[in-house]
Amino acid sequence: MALNNTMKQSSFTIKTFGCQMNVRDSEIMAQLLAEKGYVESMEMEDADVVILNTCSIRAKAEQKAMSMLGALRKAKRRRPGMKICVAGCVAQQEGQELCQRMDHVDLVIGTQNLYELAGLLEGIDGTSKVAISMSDSYEIPAFIPAMPKLISQGELQDTSPARSFRKFLTIMQGCNNYCTYCVVPYTRGREISRKVNDIIEEAHVLVEAGVQEITLLGQNVNSYGRTNPVTAEGNEYSFAQLLRDVAAIEGLKRLRFTTSNPKDLSLDLMRCFSEIEILCPQFHLPVQSGSNIVLSKMNRKYTRELYLQKVAELRSFRPDIALSTDVIVGFPGETDADFEQTMEILEEVRFHSSFSFKYSDRPGTRSADFDEKVDEQVKSERLSRFQKRQDQICLEQNSLYVGKILPVMIEKVTEDGLVARTVTNHIVHVKEKITCSPGDIVNVTIHHAGQHSLNGRIDSTNQYQGYSHD
Ligand code: 5AD
Ligand code: SF4
Repeated sequence: MALNNTMKQSSFTIKTFGCQMNVRDSEIMAQLLAEKGYVESMEMEDADVVILNTCSIRAKAEQKAMSMLGALRKAKRRRPGMKICVAGCVAQQEGQELCQRMDHVDLVIGTQNLYELAGLLEGIDGTSKVAISMSDSYEIPAFIPAMPKLISQGELQDTSPARSFRKFLTIMQGCNNYCTYCVVPYTRGREISRKVNDIIEEAHVLVEAGVQEITLLGQNVNSYGRTNPVTAEGNEYSFAQLLRDVAAIEGLKRLRFTTSNPKDLSLDLMRCFSEIEILCPQFHLPVQSGSNIVLSKMNRKYTRELYLQKVAELRSFRPDIALSTDVIVGFPGETDADFEQTMEILEEVRFHSSFSFKYSDRPGTRSADFDEKVDEQVKSERLSRFQKRQDQICLEQNSLYVGKILPVMIEKVTEDGLVARTVTNHIVHVKEKITCSPGDIVNVTIHHAGQHSLNGRIDSTNQYQGYSHD
């Protein structure tokens, strides 16, 4: 849609569900629409185009998106000109059926069709459109993030203050692991790595636009470059090399990545934590279960012993590394004894934090057909036991930071102080007013630890030059 000055600009709003990958995809969609002259609106009810970027990894995530979609039916009745678009994993999974169940939906767009969004919206004529393709030879297009530039020129709103100096960069899409509970290989397709040059170029653009921290994203970053050639010459190129090359970009202050499958965690990658200065000592390493029987039924291809070995190795390269994990309780066939082993692994590793979920059947996955489904009540009890103990461990782990002086990156300047983040990804609240901007790094002394965040004071011997007390 080419817009001139006399026309009212169409507005859009995007609601994102689920993971960081979706957050990045939503940014891409926002940029695609902004380039076509749409303006972002914060009010879903008023927007001309409403996009729900959905997630179907767990039943709960999918239900959330579907109930919001249901609620939009009323809004569309009030304003029939509103265009409703469903993107992401639910769109990919449901396709045409979604339009049949929800006749107020105008466009269903698949995970490999993201970049076609603007063109597809133009052609909407009152009948539902479905653009779902899934190809093994799909290539993630080169994409120059104009977003930070547009923000600085005031052409695009960036509502979250943290967003413009911390950015996600997608390096791969899809997954070939086929864990039996997981819908990702079906909704995001086979694993495809982006070209190194595209990634480096994107990272350069971000850093030039003032981005200080980049998080590289993929379902299984450890296998970057293994399933398709990523260099022009077709040379071997690993994730560890990518980390080194991105870290070498001048001006970048912090580098993170997510997510890794423990089976593919190489010594070469672990070594990066002792070699790359800006690589943050934080690692998300999903264990899923502490029981070898369950791990095998999940098709995770590692044992609890191997997992613990990897954790020990990682800590030998970087003793201060903060580990987080994902856990599923109540996988089909999980016995009390299996679950106790998950509790044991929590005691042994003492994760800094974790995401824990009740198992839910996902359409098309192998475990959806497994017998011995665990009772919902039992799942809830296990989840609550796990989370209670994790909360205690969080507090114990966080207490170890009390008295330490840590560099923190400022995320937000609030009325009564600052919200900042440590390299280990802990949020720190500081109740002091200093002259500073989001993205600046200051040293703080931690004086209190809570379960989910820390409290600090600006360190009086601060090395950071650009601040002064008000
Ligand atoms: N049920 C419950 N949790 C799941 N996850 C993935 N699939 C399921 C499922 N069917 C969890 C895993 C994964 C995280 C992103 O979501 O723990 O690591
Ligand atoms: Fe899903 Fe397993 Fe792939 Fe992660 S590694 S996306 S859990 S199939």
